[in-house]
Amino acid sequence: MSRAFAPVTIGSWNLPQSFVMGPLTRNRAGAGNAPTQLNATYYAQRAGAGLIVTEGTAPSAVGQGYLNVPGLYTDAQVAGWRLVADAVHEQGGHIVAQLMHAGRIAHADNKDGAETISASAVRAPGEMVTANGRFPHDEPRALESEELAGVVADYVTAAQNAVIAGLDGVEIHSANGYLLHQFLDPTINLREDAHGGSPENRARLVVEVVTAVAEAIGAEKVGLRISPGHQFNGVGEEAGADMSATYAALVDAVAPLGLAYLSILASPLEPLKDLVADLRSRFGGPVLLNDGFGDVTSIDTVEELLATGLADAVVVGRQFLANPDLGARWEQGAELNEPDAATFYGGGAEGYTDYPTLEAS
Ligand SMILES: Cc1cc2nc3c(=O)[nH]c(=O)nc-3n(C[C@H](O)[C@H](O)[C@H](O)COP(=O)(O)O)c2cc1C
Repeated sequence: MSRAFAPVTIGSWNLPQSFVMGPLTRNRAGAGNAPTQLNATYYAQRAGAGLIVTEGTAPSAVGQGYLNVPGLYTDAQVAGWRLVADAVHEQGGHIVAQLMHAGRIAHADNKDGAETISASAVRAPGEMVTANGRFPHDEPRALESEELAGVVADYVTAAQNAVIAGLDGVEIHSANGYLLHQFLDPTINLREDAHGGSPENRARLVVEVVTAVAEAIGAEKVGLRISPGHQFNGVGEEAGADMSATYAALVDAVAPLGLAYLSILASPLEPLKDLVADLRSRFGGPVLLNDGFGDVTSIDTVEELLATGLADAVVVGRQFLANPDLGARWEQGAELNEPDAATFYGGGAEGYTDYPTLEAS
């Protein structure tokens, strides 16, 4: 029996099926990193997902990383997100903003010269695409202990802005090598203050952000995404006692808050099954699962992940990008549009709002 099409409740959202649209950076924000009508159309087309997690969205100018990524720290950005929220709600969907502070995965040219910061002054490998070409990531400045409360405050303001814009909540992005993951990773976080060293200390900033955001907008509107051991963007953390202790400390500290969900990217799931099971039991609330950037999630993957008993719902990325009516297609066993990687990151309507529905094709 299919579990994928069983309704599920995540937080306060009653969803028609047990898979949701995951966060997908698309680099198509308008002037001033504000969402546009084009972005509203894209998300509204995918409202059938039940719950949409938006592309990573910067909580502050300093937190911007990639080119043309939206923010939630100016009035124009809030107005842009209202277009998106209204359009998705008109189609009966729910949508939460993923708050992504890029930390060291950044270049000043993509943020009007704003500086790049991280847990420690450890430059990320690789390059950043800017309007002026490709450049190595900036060497980050290590945040001072006294500055961390300001980082937390920026997340709170952005989350409050999400609610003002009419969005249904936020997901705190602590995965994939961005700022909060940089604090968790012992190879990037070399701090000697209360936010470095032990697993509890490295988890502290994430806990502070999640707690403050939950207090500000209500825990039932807040999700958290983690990706233990995902060696992306120069992350060096490895499966083992330290990593398990770090994520256990994090999940133990946020579990009593009663968050909407914990979203775990385990890439691939197999070697991390025990850790995921442990984190799920520590968390006690709904868990979303995704098995990473390798194979594109298929309906079989969704069923397999649900059958493990480790997930209440599965996060689906690229197939939602390419198929606005993915649920209907999967349910009918219909053909799927192919995701076109050439148009993932930037551009206009092509490869964004022009993937046809079944009805239109
Ligand atoms: C184009 C693209 C952009 C992505 N952007 C984000 C992002 O902003 N935040 C995030 O947490 N994950 C991001 N991811 C990861 C996806 O959420 C998802 O975990 C990944 O694509 C694997 O799932 P899939 O096989 O269903 O696509 C991105 C992936 C792709 C392909």
